[in-house]
Amino acid sequence: MVFNILTLFPETIRCFLRESIVKRAAEKGVVRFSIVDIREFSTDRHKKVDDYPFGGGTGMVLSPDPLFKALECLGDRGRTVYLSPAGALLDQPKVRELARLERMTLLCGHYEGIDQRVVDRFVDEQISIGDYVLTGGEIAAAVLVDSVTREIDETLGNNESKFEESFDSTGLLEYEQYTRPASYRGLEVPAVLLSGNHGEIERWRLKRRLVNTMKARPELFGRIELTNEMRDILEEIHNDAAKETSHESSTGN
Ligand SMILES: C[S@@+](CC[C@H](N)C(=O)[O-])C[C@H]1O[C@@H](n2cnc3c(N)ncnc32)[C@H](O)[C@@H]1O
Repeated sequence: MVFNILTLFPETIRCFLRESIVKRAAEKGVVRFSIVDIREFSTDRHKKVDDYPFGGGTGMVLSPDPLFKALECLGDRGRTVYLSPAGALLDQPKVRELARLERMTLLCGHYEGIDQRVVDRFVDEQISIGDYVLTGGEIAAAVLVDSVTREIDETLGNNESKFEESFDSTGLLEYEQYTRPASYRGLEVPAVLLSGNHGEIERWRLKRRLVNTMKARPELFGRIELTNEMRDILEEIHNDAAKETSHESSTGN
């Protein structure tokens, strides 16, 4: 997968690419990066790339000329994405879809955003990483690159499996993870995980996934296809909760 990244802050992107799994994926040739400094395409003698918004208002807007030139310079852009809070939210199904592409161009905005004519001419899709406003698209591009790179089959080794994790094929959030020691400062690992009983461990994990999803992201259940085992465990969770409530009311707690 080739990522072209257009930015006013190439060093922010380079810093991120120098570490960890994304760096390893680049070393293995799974991903390749071409970072384009938008400012290099400014014809202004002070390398200015922004201007006042037509119609008034605060802030500045990235001008069309350096962006048109930078994008035209790329040749094959593949899917062109503008990172924007006004885009569709990035989620794991979208990450999986993007991971199947051979080439993408990511456009990082800054100031109040970019001239709409750039969007109209070049952008295939606008993507947001969350319902908040960042100062620039670089962190959003890093989030997208990281999640997409991780999703490409050749990226992770055997010890870094993508199965049984949040938003996997079940659509559930993950169960809690523990490692050695089994007892730490009086804090114990759940006994079932030390039992060696794989059936019970699997059931405990699925139950925790259901509980965690119910607590943190109940709306996800709208998209989850419940298996019979999940239904059984959900009933058990409801029964546990009912028992707890009746115990609390009988003890007055
Ligand atoms: C200050 S923001 C511009 C916000 C814009 N005026 C608006 O209200 O939608 C500057 C740049 O940060 C990036 N950005 C900010 N928040 C983002 C988000 N949640 N997801 C993706 N990119 C974001 C975009 O590239 C945007 O052009």
